[in-house]
Amino acid sequence: MDKLVIRGGNPLLGTIRVSGAKNAALPAMAAALLTEEPIILENVPQVRDIETTRKLLAEMGADVELGYGRAQHRTTICCRTLVSPEASYELVKTMRASTLVLGPLVARCGRARVSLPGGCAIGARPIDLHIKGLERLGASINQEHGYVEAKAERLRGAEIVFDKITVTGTEDVLMAATLAEGDTVMHNCAREPEVADLADLLNKMGAHIEGAGTSTIHIKGVDKLHGAKHRIIPDRIEAGTFIVAGALTGGDLNVAGCEPRHLGALLQKLLEVGVRTAHTTDAVRVMGDGPLKAADMVTEEYPGFPTDMQAQYMALATQAEGTSIITENIFENRFMHAQEMVRMGANIRIEGSRAIVRGRTPLSAAAVLASDLRASASLVLAALVAEGESIIDRVYHIDRGYEHIEEKLKGVGAQIRRIGEMLPKRSVAPMVRA
Ligand code: UD1
Repeated sequence: MDKLVIRGGNPLLGTIRVSGAKNAALPAMAAALLTEEPIILENVPQVRDIETTRKLLAEMGADVELGYGRAQHRTTICCRTLVSPEASYELVKTMRASTLVLGPLVARCGRARVSLPGGCAIGARPIDLHIKGLERLGASINQEHGYVEAKAERLRGAEIVFDKITVTGTEDVLMAATLAEGDTVMHNCAREPEVADLADLLNKMGAHIEGAGTSTIHIKGVDKLHGAKHRIIPDRIEAGTFIVAGALTGGDLNVAGCEPRHLGALLQKLLEVGVRTAHTTDAVRVMGDGPLKAADMVTEEYPGFPTDMQAQYMALATQAEGTSIITENIFENRFMHAQEMVRMGANIRIEGSRAIVRGRTPLSAAAVLASDLRASASLVLAALVAEGESIIDRVYHIDRGYEHIEEKLKGVGAQIRRIGEMLPKRSVAPMVRA
């Protein structure tokens, strides 16, 4: 199993490039199930969750071609014939976002069988809201043997109010509603940029969607969708992780190829912490030359501070003067990185959904264990400022969502290397057919 070895102490200097958003690419790949024609996606990141989605679609009979390098991270998906509208436990258990195929499958094939994802390191994460939304569209749903089975001859448009804001739930039901008969209005929707990006793609495929990116989305159902070409938005969480890395290491880092408009809550919080940033339309420069001061932070749905940046913010808070109270509002159990940071010398106390971080404490290198995707990113950040050589185990978590993180960080001066089995390097992957 791979590990990352990081020697702390180097400021990050120069330009680092952001990849396409994993959380936008995953629903976009699922959207390809809605049409018989090819969907061409550009700027798809080379991360493990994308490979898992490729396998998932290929098992159903899709042609999926992942092209990297010169091919501009282009993925072509063609779901002309779907032999089996089913997502197996084997794949769903490795990636919860696999449940995104439920809506498109029932809309296109009239039936779908998708494994329930089960528990998760960061919280219970049920999919009841996906199910309720599809039921409102007229699907009949059965849960048996750990699987959700959905059936509908043709979905019908409906008024749907989500009990709670859910990102993939909004996306799943949105995709289904595009092929429903009649109009659908969805209220209390997630406003994340990834939802708006998905709607953009669906509209290019012939859907009629208005309001994506706000809490109310209107959809006029159509009989058929067609092929389209779409460029995935930049990954705001990867960008945010690099911005915090620049601030933490006292560097001067240009985070290029990002969308600063999607980073508002983070940039505002960094200002409060004393981090200077400047941005153009597609880059953020972070200048980590001033002292850091503690600031409380609360995670919220977009446009609030993202839960996916909470762990990285905690690493920063360990180096700020004073006490920062971090409140996690989205997931019940998302503080597992805290104990690992404590092993590196941080002073953090967890009280329910709050983490109380007292800074500034010097960090010293240690062997630490990554527990989930963003937790592993936060440990990389902590290791970049720790004295000595840290070893981060279970790096497969980070490979799910960060493209070649060690190469990118090495390029701006970090002392970081991977040991163990390497991720397969792919220039252009062969056409895969199930
Ligand atoms: C997505 C993101 C993930 C991010 C999260 C919150 C993707 C692929 N993943 O995950 O990176 O951390 O949004 O911004 O885009 N909930 C229910 N019932 C449901 C669905 C959700 O109770 O049917 C709860 C969840 O347990 C959680 C909250 O709603 O407490 C928000 O979860 P949700 O927005 O659905 O997260 P994901 O879409 O899984």
